[in-house]
Formats: sequence, structure tokens, C-alpha cells
Amino acid sequence: MPGLLLGELFPNFEAETTTGKIKFHDFLGDSWGILFSHPRDYTPVCTTELGRATTLCLEFSRRNVKMIALSIDSLEDHHGWIKDILAYNTEGCGGAFPFPIIADHHRELAVGLGMLDPEEKDEHGMPLTARCVFVIGPDKRLKLSLLYPATTGRNFDEILRVIDSLQLTAHSRVATPADWQPGERVMVPPTMPEEEAAAMFPAGVYTKDLPSGRRYLRYTPQPQWRQSHTDSHSATDPNTQGEEVVKEKERKEKEEREKEEEEKDARPYDGGVLIISQDD
Ligand code: BEZ
Repeated sequence: MPGLLLGELFPNFEAETTTGKIKFHDFLGDSWGILFSHPRDYTPVCTTELGRATTLCLEFSRRNVKMIALSIDSLEDHHGWIKDILAYNTEGCGGAFPFPIIADHHRELAVGLGMLDPEEKDEHGMPLTARCVFVIGPDKRLKLSLLYPATTGRNFDEILRVIDSLQLTAHSRVATPADWQPGERVMVPPTMPEEEAAAMFPAGVYTKDLPSGRRYLRYTPQPQWRQSHTDSHSATDPNTQGEEVVKEKERKEKEEREKEEEEKDARPYDGGVLIISQDD
């Protein structure tokens, strides 16, 4: 298993977790998945990371991504540590810890999935797990892997941004540029002929003039793509990861949007001119 490549089928491993025994593919079902590893329970950086992941559980759920963490300690340690994480981060996800943590006490998965950081050792001189992130698609294939050393905590906003790009580009034949954020313009793939691009992107394709004369830097508005994932899952069940809460949040957001629209409609026209610009 070491050196899992992008596009490869992710191993269908069995594991003990804080919510029971799982077989990974069954755990994922039809969802996307994110598996992230941690060096050790009861460590400061890991606690901030899991606390942040807990706060973002609705964001992952909204994207139909099931979360699962891994650390090389026992289930008993995990359960104790979860209490600390929830105390550190009181926002949580409906009060409960929203995803399972795998107990990889014998480092079998950590070794098999290439997660060890040889630079960081425990009190017995054994290497700890690095901060590994795997994003797995609904086809159970690896879509992204990131590997951070134990001494650098991850940026979970970036992980969500990457998932947005992965899901967009799985749905539409586009690529996302540096620092792209959802809603911003995207790139037309360099291999797509101009006629095909014109047909594929009716919202328009803008080509930047370049000294080389080559017409490869082509932008188009981001295609619409997000479906909402709102089946009837419970907010506090870590195996269904907060769908009820997502529904409620989406309902509130919709209400707020409608209220804003109503307020806008009620305002008198101020004679302003709407300018739509396409800068490069
Ligand atoms: C931490 O999570 O704080 C940590 C773990 C291992 C090495 C360094 C930091």
C-alpha cells in the first residue's frame, strides 16, 4: 500500500473506531470521504486540528464528505481525548463529536498508507504518524493526498477549498487557478479546442493575450454545479454526520436570503448604472 497514487482504488481496510468497527468502503457508502491522521492523542496541535474539524463538520456534510480521523492510540485514549477536544472547542457540532477516530494502536494503517513521519518519534523511539490527508471520491478512488509533518498544523479552510475544486472539476471540464475560491472564474483546460470550449461554456470564454501568441490562458465563469445533500440523517450520529443540522442551517440561510431580497426590492431605484466588467 505505500505510495498510494492519485486515481488508485483506496484500500477497503477494516478498523476499530470510536463509533465501532468499520469496513472503509461501507463506511463511505456513496459519499466522498476525508481521512486525516494525527501523530498522537492528547497533543496540542492535534487538539486544535480536531477542534477545528469539529466546527467545520457541517461544511464537510454540506459537500457530502464523510470525515474520519486516525491516531495511533487506543480507543480508550481516543474517548478520553474527545472530551478534551469538545472542552477546547465548545462550538462542536450539535454538542456531539461528529466523526469517528480510528484506533491504529499497532500502526498497521499508518505504515500501510505511508503516514509515518520518521522525524517525529515517541518515547520508545517509534515514529509517529504525520498529518496526512486523503480525499476519496464516491468511486472509492484517491482524489488528493497531502502530507504535513507533525510540527505543522493543517489549514482546514484550504482543505474545504480543495474539496470544492475537486468536486467542481469532477462535475465540469474546467480547472481552478491559483488561490481560486468558489464562485470565481475558472480555467478552460488547455487541451480543449476553441470551438468545443465555445460550445461547452455558453457564458463565454475570455482569452488573455500573451507575448508567446499562444491562446492557452482561457477563463470562463464558474459553471453551476453544487447539489444539496439533504437526506434525513441525524445531527448527532457520527456515522451520518450532521445532515439534519445542515438542513436547518440551509433553511435559515434561505430565509435570510429571501428577507434580503425583499428588503432590496422595497428600496427605491437610485439611478445607479450597473457595470459588468471582465478584467484579466
Ligand atoms: C502536536 O500535536 O502538538 C504535536 C505532535 C507531535 C509532534 C509535535 C507536535
